[in-house]
Amino acid sequence: MKLLIATRNRHKAEEILQIFNVPGLEVVTALDFSDLPDVEEDKDTFEGNAIKKAVAMAKNSGLWAMADDSGLEVDALGGEPGVYSARFAGEPVDYDANNAKLLIALAGVENRTARFRCVVALSDPDGNVKTVEAKCEGLIDFYPKGDQGFGYDPLFIPEGKTQTFAELPPEEKHAISHRGRALQKAHEQWADTLRSLTLGP
Ligand code: IMP
Repeated sequence: MKLLIATRNRHKAEEILQIFNVPGLEVVTALDFSDLPDVEEDKDTFEGNAIKKAVAMAKNSGLWAMADDSGLEVDALGGEPGVYSARFAGEPVDYDANNAKLLIALAGVENRTARFRCVVALSDPDGNVKTVEAKCEGLIDFYPKGDQGFGYDPLFIPEGKTQTFAELPPEEKHAISHRGRALQKAHEQWADTLRSLTLGP
């Protein structure tokens, strides 16, 4: 049985494929399919959106599906942009515009604390679903630095580091990131389920 990574975000798909390696498990992404639905992320929690994406893609594909919903919570902005991180500066999604809007919103603000949060949901083809969650604390820098990663990476300095996520080698980001930690939990907590998928058709 294949596991479908329920995202069309190329950057997220790449990261998940780099991080999530279960021996014997064939992993495909929604980018490999042309006939899967676009799932509107209209819930007001990461958990709600992750569950919605995983269940919709699993039911439509007949495969087990794993979805990630993630975003940035900035304390001085009352937790924004949160679930609206992708479209903070409007449609279509524009990472540079999002970062510019964030810097303007934080102009003159001393408290730069923030965190990335990630919920990963795993659904069987019938829509039975479970989730894990992780976060990564850090600070918002005063101007963008680095060219690795995606999204808010050029502005986010994770706790314990002096460089932004976009300046760190991918393995260093994955070792401490919200997504890396959530996928590590998924690996540990769902080991039996994932192993059973390597035995199926
Ligand atoms: P969604 O989960 O598809 O709704 O999108 C999450 C949004 O949060 C992305 O478009 C990015 O703006 C931001 N985001 C999530 N994870 C990361 C990350 O690892 N680095 C930088 N930005 C991220």
